[in-house]
Parts: sequence; C-alpha cells; structure tokens
Amino acid sequence: MIELQTTGVSRSFGGLLAVDRVDLTVRRGELRALIGPNGAGKSTLLNLLAGTLAPSAGSIRLGDRNITRASVPQRALLGIGRSFQVVNLFEGLTCRQVLELALQRDVPMRRWALPSGAAAIRRRAAEALEAAGLASIADEESTRISHGLQKRLEIALALANAPRVLLLDEPMAGMSAEERIALRETLRQVAGRSTIVFVEHDIEMVMSLAASVTLLHNGTIVCEGTPDEVRRNPVAQDVYLRGER
Ligand SMILES: Nc1ncnc2c1ncn2[C@@H]1O[C@H](COP(=O)(O)OP(=O)(O)O)[C@@H](O)[C@H]1O
Ligand SMILES: [Mg+2]
Repeated sequence: MIELQTTGVSRSFGGLLAVDRVDLTVRRGELRALIGPNGAGKSTLLNLLAGTLAPSAGSIRLGDRNITRASVPQRALLGIGRSFQVVNLFEGLTCRQVLELALQRDVPMRRWALPSGAAAIRRRAAEALEAAGLASIADEESTRISHGLQKRLEIALALANAPRVLLLDEPMAGMSAEERIALRETLRQVAGRSTIVFVEHDIEMVMSLAASVTLLHNGTIVCEGTPDEVRRNPVAQDVYLRGER
C-alpha cells in the first residue's frame, strides 16, 4: 500500500532547480533512505514532504489524500512527524519532562490523571530516553545540554509520538558509533509501525538499515532500489558511491 507519493514535484530557488520533477513512492511501513552528494536536493525534498517548503510544481499525497497545499500543522495532524528543534522551546523542563509532556498529548487526560496512566507515561518516556541514549542525562535541563544531545532529544521526541510518517534529516550526524548503532535499532523497531524517510551520509549505515534507497543528484532521482541494487548500479557508483569507498 502506498503511504507517501510525490508526482512531478519540483522546487526552485531563484534560477536554481533544487528538486526537479521527482516521482517518489514510499510504501506503508517502509524504511527509505535518501542519499546523494551535498546539494543534491535531499533536505529540500524532505522539507517539501513535511510542508516547510511549498513545491513550485507537482503534487504530494499521503495515503489517498492530496496534501500538496496542506500546512505543517495540518500535516502533523494527519500524522507526518519530523524532528523539530527543541532549543529554547522547553526552557526549565528536563529531558524527561519534555518527553512526558509530548507523550501526554496523545493520551486522554482521564487516563494520565490516574496513577496507572501516569506510570505508563513515565515508563514510555524512560524507554524513549534509553532508546535515544539519553538515560544518563534524563534529569538535566533540556535547553542546557550540548547540541549533539539536543539533536538526540529531538529524535526521541519525534519517535515517542509514533507518527504515521517520520521524516529525519541526517539524524545520526554528530553521533558516536555506539549511538548510531543504538539509533539504528530504534529505527528498526519503529519501522513497520511508522513509515520512515531519512537522509543519511553514512553509507554503511544506510546499507544496513534501509529497505530501499533513493539516490538523488542535481534534484533528480538517479537510481532507486534495494541497498544492493543501488550499490551495484554503475550510475550510482559514478555519482556517489565510488567516492565513499
Ligand atoms: N532556502 C534556500 N535558498 C536558496 N537555495 C537553497 C535553499 N535551500 C537549498 N538551496 C539550494 O538547493 C540545492 C539543494 O539543497 P539541499 O536540498 O539542502 O541539498 P542536500 O540536502 O542534498 O545537501 C543546493 O544547491 C542548495 O544550495
Ligand atoms: Mg541536507
């Protein structure tokens, strides 16, 4: 079943076509990686899906709904989640409190007001912090932690709400090898329940995590397929992979 689809979607900045008539189809529950050299249009495409940028042409569908003109909040309500910047947003709250707050949003008040409901939210928040490698700083103030840790808190926050579609732009940037492996496990667990589209530079990580890979170059899709298919594709090797090995 198709969950997310762009048809002839383009976005220009002045004279520059950052995304050029892209047809992207992502099935429900898929874990899709977007790869490509710097400036290929990966972030722009992700922003078009999230609604933070409007397309210059083309259309975008979520399931059987046309969301081309839907605003970011409308898309969020329809289940398109993305990591957003925590910086300054939760002044005075600890990392644990930020997550508990996000989780409460999805639970009716009559449930989280009960001791059992509150305990469930505490447990889920603790699990999300653990999964994001933030357990040891759970009680530190969220706006005072380092940039790298804030980035992880943002991912934990996006994951905690188990969105229908999760968009992540280089979620592993700045993480240690251990943290990357932990996040890979988390994303594997979330895939299936959520459809995930992520941009990632670490090609080994992409190959071992993504079910399918889309290679962008100059705003267009150069090749697409399973990690092995993309790895073997001569055009992909020319454009991107050769330089990575
Ligand atoms: N807001 C913007 N204004 C002008 N040019 C932009 C803007 N965002 C991206 N671009 C340009 O669009 C192209 C694609 O950028 P981007 O989508 O960020 O690439 P990637 O994420 O693959 O590195 C680049 O040439 C970039 O300079
Ligand atoms: Mg980018």
